[in-house]
Amino acid sequence: MRFAILSFFLLLLSCSPENDNRQSESIDKVVNIDTTAVVEAAKEITTASFKTLSSNLQKAMSEGGVSNALEFCNIKAMPLTDSLASHYGIELQRASHQPRNPVNKADSLEMIAIKEYIRNIEQGRELKPVTYTRENAIIYHAPIRIQGQLCLSCHGSPGTDISQSDVEIIQELYPEDMATGFEIGELRGIWSIQFPANYFNQEDK
Ligand code: HEC
Repeated sequence: MRFAILSFFLLLLSCSPENDNRQSESIDKVVNIDTTAVVEAAKEITTASFKTLSSNLQKAMSEGGVSNALEFCNIKAMPLTDSLASHYGIELQRASHQPRNPVNKADSLEMIAIKEYIRNIEQGRELKPVTYTRENAIIYHAPIRIQGQLCLSCHGSPGTDISQSDVEIIQELYPEDMATGFEIGELRGIWSIQFPANYFNQEDK
């Protein structure tokens, strides 16, 4: 229930017109903080999140195939990332330019990182995480790419990678779905973490 309320607020947030304008013109590059510490902490968090999500996903797949896993992601993906976020005392999101869940739609700041990653993929360059400060918070973005056939069974081409019956489930659960038609290696979205400004001052972190 708590998660439902939280998702509801996230939904409200992502629908408010301010959301897309909240980005300031210039991004302050991190100058005073130890970016290595940020990247290290963020990698630990995204690795833990990825492990949690993918082990739950694989369990749901083995128990009831893609259709079961779709229902599982629908109900559980947000609560899982939310509970990890509150465990670490941060804000954690998977943001996408082509979201399945509209709550995960990238804001304008996240879109800057996404476009840069897409450009880097096109030019065959390595994709690196980015950190900067904004409004007294420390922001971290890192790429999420389509890794393989597993991802394609829910994010690939409808009718070929995704079976017709699964396409129908997706449309039922996510009428505004934009997250199909991906190919292996493509950018699916980003991890977006917001650390409180004093996060790295605390000794036990
Ligand atoms: C069983 C189907 C299924 C598989 C397999 C799957 N996904 Fe998803 N994915 C979903 C669903 C459903 C959502 C929406 C979750 C929600 O409602 O929060 C989603 C959401 C996402 C999001 C969040 C942004 C958005 O569009 O809402 C990312 C990023 C993502 N998936 C990446 C991947 C990657 C990378 C893989 C392969 C490792 C993968 N997915 C495999 C079903 C799947």
